[in-house]
Amino acid sequence: MVTEKSAIFIIFGGSGDLAHRKLYPSLFRLYKSGFLKDHFAVIGTARRPWSDDYFRETVITSLKDYFDDDEEVMKEFSKHFFYQSHDVNDSEHYIALKNLAAKLDDQFKAGHNRVYYMAIAPRFFGTVAEHINSEGLKTADGYNRLVIEKPFGRDLDSACELNGNISKAFPEDDIYRIDHYLGKKMVQDIPVIRAQNDKFEEALNNKYVSNIQVTLAESIGVEDRGGYYETAGVLRDMVQNHIMQIIGAIASIDPKAKDAKVIHKNKCDLFGSLKDLTPEQVDTNFVRGQYDTDNLDDEKAYRQEDNVAEDSNIETFTAGKIEFENDRWSGVPFYIRSGKRMPDKSSRIDIVFNDNVTDLGIKANTVVTLLIERTNDHSILINGIDYKESAQDFIKFPEEKDFVGAREAYESLIIDILSGNRVNFTLWDELRSTWTYIDAIRERWDSQTPDFPNYVSGTMGPDAAEMLLERNGDSWVWDD
Ligand code: BG6
Repeated sequence: MVTEKSAIFIIFGGSGDLAHRKLYPSLFRLYKSGFLKDHFAVIGTARRPWSDDYFRETVITSLKDYFDDDEEVMKEFSKHFFYQSHDVNDSEHYIALKNLAAKLDDQFKAGHNRVYYMAIAPRFFGTVAEHINSEGLKTADGYNRLVIEKPFGRDLDSACELNGNISKAFPEDDIYRIDHYLGKKMVQDIPVIRAQNDKFEEALNNKYVSNIQVTLAESIGVEDRGGYYETAGVLRDMVQNHIMQIIGAIASIDPKAKDAKVIHKNKCDLFGSLKDLTPEQVDTNFVRGQYDTDNLDDEKAYRQEDNVAEDSNIETFTAGKIEFENDRWSGVPFYIRSGKRMPDKSSRIDIVFNDNVTDLGIKANTVVTLLIERTNDHSILINGIDYKESAQDFIKFPEEKDFVGAREAYESLIIDILSGNRVNFTLWDELRSTWTYIDAIRERWDSQTPDFPNYVSGTMGPDAAEMLLERNGDSWVWDD
C-alpha cells in the first residue's frame, strides 16, 4: 500500500549530474506512484545563480530523457522545486536555506521533516553537515536525516576524519550512507531467498560450499570520470563498497532477522572476521589490471582518457580471493572480480557447491547463480539454466508479495530514507572493517610499480585473474 510521505528535501549539489540523472527521475517516479504528492518540496542548492524557473526547466529537461509522460504532469511536479544559490562556507546562506525551508514547510505542510542530501564533492560533506547543525537548520518536531553519497573516504584515515566531522553534527541513527547496490532488487532479495529456501540456506557454509564468486563487470570505460577515477581505482570504486555489501548479503548469519540493528550487527561481525592480509598474501591473492586500447573501435587505453595521467598506475580491473575466519566460512574462498572495459555488463554471484551437498539431496558440484542485473524476470540459475526449468528444486523465488524492493535502486532507497528504514544503508562500523581490509591491499600496491596496461579492452582482464583460481583447482563460472 502506498502511504504518502511528507518532507522538505534540501539537495546540496542540486544543479549537478547525479541529482538530474538519478534523484529527480526517482522523485518523479515516487510522485507518479503517490509516495510523494502534495506535502513535499525540493530545494536545489549549488553555487550557480539560477532562478526557480530555470531550475524547474532543467528538471523537466532531464525527466524527458527518462519518461514520455505528458509535460503537464512534469510541470505540476516541478512546482515543488525551488532553487537557492549557495556557498558552502557562507553561514548567511544556511540561514537563507533555513528560512526558505520553513516557508515551504508551511506552504506544503511538510511535517517539519528534513532530508539533507549531499550530492556534492566529498570534501564538502563535513563542512555542510557542521553548518546545518550550527546554523540551526534542524527542526525540533520532525525528523532530520542526512544522506551521503559515496565515496565515504578514500582510506580508513580519511573515512574516520569524515565520520568524525559529520557525527559531530548528526547522530549515527540519522545518517544514511548510500551504496546504490543495496537499493538493487536482487541484493535486497538475497536475505529473503535465503530465509525462504531452507535447504539452500542449510547448504550455505564451509561444509557444502566450494567457493563463492562475485563479479561486477562493466563494458564501459571510465567515460568522463577520469579525474575522479584517478583518485579511486576499481578497488575503492567497486570492491570496498558494492562487492563487500553483496558478500554481506550472501554470507552474514540469520537472514530472517528483520530488525535493522540486528542485521547490521550480523554484517559487522562478518566484516570483522575478514582474514587479515600480509603484504605477501596481497601479492598472491590479488590481481590488478589496467585496460589498453583494442586498436579497433577507437577504444582508448585508460592512460589516454581525459584527465588521466599518461603514466597512471590506477587499476581499472581487479580480481582477488577474500577469506573469512569464522565457523561458517573458514576455508571457503570468496573470489571477487570487477573491471571496466570487460566484454559485457554482468553483475552476478555464483555459488559453487562441493560434493557433500549430495547429503542434502542436491547434485554434487551444483552452481547457483544469482543475477543482480535482472531484466524482466527473477533471475536464479541452477547450473546455468533458469531455476524453473531445472530438475532440482531446492531453491526458488518465493511469492512476490514477500519481496521487499520492487523499484529502481534510488527510488527504493529514497522510500527507505523517508520511512526511517536504515537496513539498506551502510553503517560506520562496517566501513571501518572494509576500509581496513582494502587499505592493506592499496598500501602494498602503492609500494610497487605495476606493468600497465596489461589487458586489452573488451577482454576478461589479465591472465593472472584466471591463474588465481586455477592454482586452487577452481575456475570462474562466468567466462563470457
Ligand atoms: C558506481 C561506480 O558506484 O557504480 C561506477 O562509481 C560504476 O564506476 C557504477 O560504473 C556501476 O553501477 P551499476 O548500477 O551500473 O552496476
